[in-house]
Amino acid sequence: MSVSVLVGVQWGDEGKGKIIDVLTKDAGMVVRFQGGNNAGHTVEINGQHFVLHLIPSGILRAGVPCVIANGVVVDPVELVKEMNMLKSRDIDVSGIQLSTRCHLIMPWHKLIDAFKEDSAKGDKKIGTTKRGIGPAYSSKADRTGIRGGEMRDLVRFEKHFRDNAEAYNREYVPMGGAKLDVEAAWKEVLAARDVLVPHLADTVVTINEANANGVHVLLEGAQGAFLDIDHGTFPYVTSSNTTSGGACTGTGLPPRAITEVWGVLKAYSTRVGEGPFPTELFDEQGEFLREQGGEFGATTGRPRRCGWLDAVACRHSCMVNGVDFLAITKLDVLDKLKEIKICTAYKIGDKTVTTFPEDVYDLARVEPVYETMPGWETSTTGILDWNSLPVNAQKYLKRIAELTKSKIGIVSVGPDRNQTFRV
Ligand code: GDP
Ligand code: IMO
Ligand code: MG
Repeated sequence: MSVSVLVGVQWGDEGKGKIIDVLTKDAGMVVRFQGGNNAGHTVEINGQHFVLHLIPSGILRAGVPCVIANGVVVDPVELVKEMNMLKSRDIDVSGIQLSTRCHLIMPWHKLIDAFKEDSAKGDKKIGTTKRGIGPAYSSKADRTGIRGGEMRDLVRFEKHFRDNAEAYNREYVPMGGAKLDVEAAWKEVLAARDVLVPHLADTVVTINEANANGVHVLLEGAQGAFLDIDHGTFPYVTSSNTTSGGACTGTGLPPRAITEVWGVLKAYSTRVGEGPFPTELFDEQGEFLREQGGEFGATTGRPRRCGWLDAVACRHSCMVNGVDFLAITKLDVLDKLKEIKICTAYKIGDKTVTTFPEDVYDLARVEPVYETMPGWETSTTGILDWNSLPVNAQKYLKRIAELTKSKIGIVSVGPDRNQTFRV
């Protein structure tokens, strides 16, 4: 019985999709446990490029059952689109299980998300993906949300849908929100519902039984630690628990079932959307990372903000996640640099701290303290073992392990599934 959780330890887009694909080789089931189609998880296989938003990245290895668990918020229309995209590329999606307990992202959730973002001024903007994630989790918390299992009973589902859709129009249209065409929206959701009903299952039982039967279960996190609703840079966060603790509530697996935590860490930092980002680079160095790393959102296409690795932040998130092993990605993006910086402390006024501030107000005021390391100025993209890495690359990785108090388990030196090695 073994369950691995994989999470991002920064601001998302660390390369979780790629590492999930690699780890799926030894897994018997892959499960998404939180977030929704705000995620964009990329996997490259021999020149083929896949971006998964809701379906576990494990789907790309035939024969491994994939589950969308109760902690996920699911846009039925988008899920069907993703299934069709995969089918058109000869990927079998017939075995996907969708939790009866997951909450559904409904058309009004997307309108509310867009309305709030577009009408927010200045620092009130979050920079969401406008996929309806926050409003869907709000409906879950205020207990008006619609769960996946309700789709089975068409009469009940339609009534709940229409009641909530009309409530949206009554409440939001007078404030300036877009009017929802209830009939058109229902037609679209109904078509998706017909496809999804056969996939509905009590995934809490599925996952726990698999674990009890000795199947190695891999839990795929979305977003990253600093987007966690409790542990992130609130309010500039997403609306779910992205850290490893969320894997239990999001699947129904008890804490004792988790045997291993993987933290995916990009060799530098990126962030999409608003909110403080201490090591952000606004100069040509930041532009270099964006260009070399192809740092444009896999979901929204937005350019990602780029900066040096923040070891203060990563140490904190490795602690919160209880990371057993780091998977360090995108080392190759640094190949051409003469010097590489790591943030090892923050200055706040005349104080120097090595812990992560609890409040974004403080985080926005910190000045990063950097340690400079020599680069390796040679390509690492074809390297497949630790000993063949340039010595300066080994030193950089060892320093990350030391500063984050974590062990390195995997190094990734390119986007392809094969550009990866165990340490
Ligand atoms: P995720 O959301 O954590 O799954 O990450 P994304 O897919 O949003 O972003 C990671 C990007 O980096 C994708 O375009 C990947 O193909 C790419 N990538 C992953 N690992 C590596 C790596 O080691 N080197 C390079 N150059 N690209 C990588
Ligand atoms: P993956 O899984 C990076 C960010 C958004 C925004 C904030 C809130 O690919 O790493 P939301 O739409 O969730 O309400 O937006 O969270 N965000 C992500 N940033 N990677 C992601 O997912 C993200 N999912 C949400 O940009 O700042
Ligand atoms: Mg992503």
